[in-house]
Amino acid sequence: MKTIIEPFRIKSIEPIYFNTPEERKEILEQACYNPFLIKAKDVLIDLLTDSGTSAMSSEQWAGIMRGDESYAGSNSFFRFESTIREITGLPLVIPTHQGRASEKILFSIIGGKGKYIISNTLFDTTRANIEYSGAEGIDLICEEGKHPTIPAPFKGNIDLTALEACITEKGASNIPLCIITVTNNSGGGQPVSMENIREARRICQLHGIPLFIDACRFAENAWFIKQREQGYAYRSIPDIIKEMFTYADGCTMSAKKDAFANIGGFLALRNESLAQQCRNLLVITEGFPTYGGLAGRDLEAIAIGLHEVMDENYLHYRIRSMEYLTEKLAAAGVPVMQPAGGHAVYLDARAFLPHIPVEQYPGQALACALYLEGGIRSVEIGSLMFGKYNAMGHLVPATLELVRMAIPRRVYTQSHIDYVAEVVIDVFRKKDSYRGLQIVEESAMLRHFTAKLKII
Ligand code: F0G
Repeated sequence: MKTIIEPFRIKSIEPIYFNTPEERKEILEQACYNPFLIKAKDVLIDLLTDSGTSAMSSEQWAGIMRGDESYAGSNSFFRFESTIREITGLPLVIPTHQGRASEKILFSIIGGKGKYIISNTLFDTTRANIEYSGAEGIDLICEEGKHPTIPAPFKGNIDLTALEACITEKGASNIPLCIITVTNNSGGGQPVSMENIREARRICQLHGIPLFIDACRFAENAWFIKQREQGYAYRSIPDIIKEMFTYADGCTMSAKKDAFANIGGFLALRNESLAQQCRNLLVITEGFPTYGGLAGRDLEAIAIGLHEVMDENYLHYRIRSMEYLTEKLAAAGVPVMQPAGGHAVYLDARAFLPHIPVEQYPGQALACALYLEGGIRSVEIGSLMFGKYNAMGHLVPATLELVRMAIPRRVYTQSHIDYVAEVVIDVFRKKDSYRGLQIVEESAMLRHFTAKLKII
C-alpha cells in the first residue's frame, strides 16, 4: 500500500483550543513577538520541540504504575540498566534527569581550560557545558552539511580530513573526547553514516582519543543508515544500533527524544574509573546512582520507550512524516532544508522573506507569521538565537536563518501535518506582507528564550 499509516491507535486525547487570527495577533503582541512567551493553551500545533513532548504508549503508562520508588537498588533501575546494556552494549549505566545533566557531569570531569572537544556539531547545551568547564568546543561538519537546500544522504557526517588536521594542530593530549551527535540536531536533524562513525573511531583510536555518541536520536539515525547506506538494507534496527555503539567508548543521552519519555537521560560508559568519577558527581548533583534525578516510574517509562523506538513500522512512519511535509512544501516552492531530517522540518527564512534584512530577524518574523496565520509554534534558529554583537554594537549574524518545526513523537496525525503544510504555504503566498522585528529587551546569555521584540 502507498499510504503509510500511523502505527498506533489513539486511546487518550487532549483537546486543542482553537483561536482566531485576531486573537493570535493580540497574544503575539503580549508575548512580545517571542513564541517562547506564548502560553501552551494558546497554541494550536506546537512544533517548538520534539523534546519531552512525546505521547507515551499504554505499555509505558503501565510501567509508570509498576515503577519501584526505592531510594537504593530499585527494580526499575535494574530494568533500565539492562535495557541500555542490551541496546548499546555499553556496560556502565548512569541515570540523569535529562541530557544536559549527563553533559554537565561528563564535561566537569574531562573538560577544563586548554582542552578541546571535537564534534560534527555540538548541540547548544553540550557546547555550553563544555565552555562552562573552560574547554573549547569545535564543530567539524562535512561540506554537504553546510548547504541547507542541496540534498545528500549523510549531511550530519563529521569531516574526517578536518578531524585529523585538528588533532595534529591541537595535539591529541589536549583532546579528551570526540563526540558525534546522531542525528545532527543543530545541522537540521541530518544523519551520520556508519562508515563515518567507524572512520572517526579509527582516527580517534590511533591517537588515543575516546569517541562518544550524543545518542538523543539514535534510532532515527539507524533508520537512515538502513535506508541509505550500502550493506544495511537487510540488517535489523537493533543490529545496526548495536554496531553503531561498538565504535563508541560511551554516550550521553536525553531520553526526552528517542526514548519517548517526558523527562530523563543517561550516561553509558565502558571505562570503570571514569564511571566512578561520574557517579561521585552524580550523588552531589542528581541523586543516588540507582535513580540519578529520576523517579523509579521514569526509569520504567524510558526502558520501555527504548524498545518501542526500534520498531521499524514506527520509524518508517516517523521519518516519512518529515519527508511528506518537506515534499509538500518544496512542491509549492517554499525554501525548505533538503533532504528532510529525522525529527524536524527546517525553513530557510532568508530565502523565504528576502525583503527582511538579517538585522531584523527574518527567522523570528517567520516564526511569528506561522503563529499568527495558523497558531503554529516553531522556533527561530538564526541570528536571534546565535547572533552576537561586535565591539561597535553591530549584529554579527548567524550563518543560517532557519525556522525549525520539530515534530513531537506519536502526537500529531497526518491531517495535522496537512494543516501545517497549508499554513506554511499560505504564509509563503503572503510573504511580502510581513515585516521585520527589532529587539527591545534581551538578556546577555541565551537571549532567544526571553527576548522581547517589536514590529518595525
Ligand atoms: N543533545 C542534543 C542533540 C539535543 O537535541 C538536546 C536537546 C540535548 C543534547 C540536551 O538534552 O534537553 O534533555 O537536556 N534538545 C532539545 C531540542 C532541547 O529542542 O532540540 P536535554
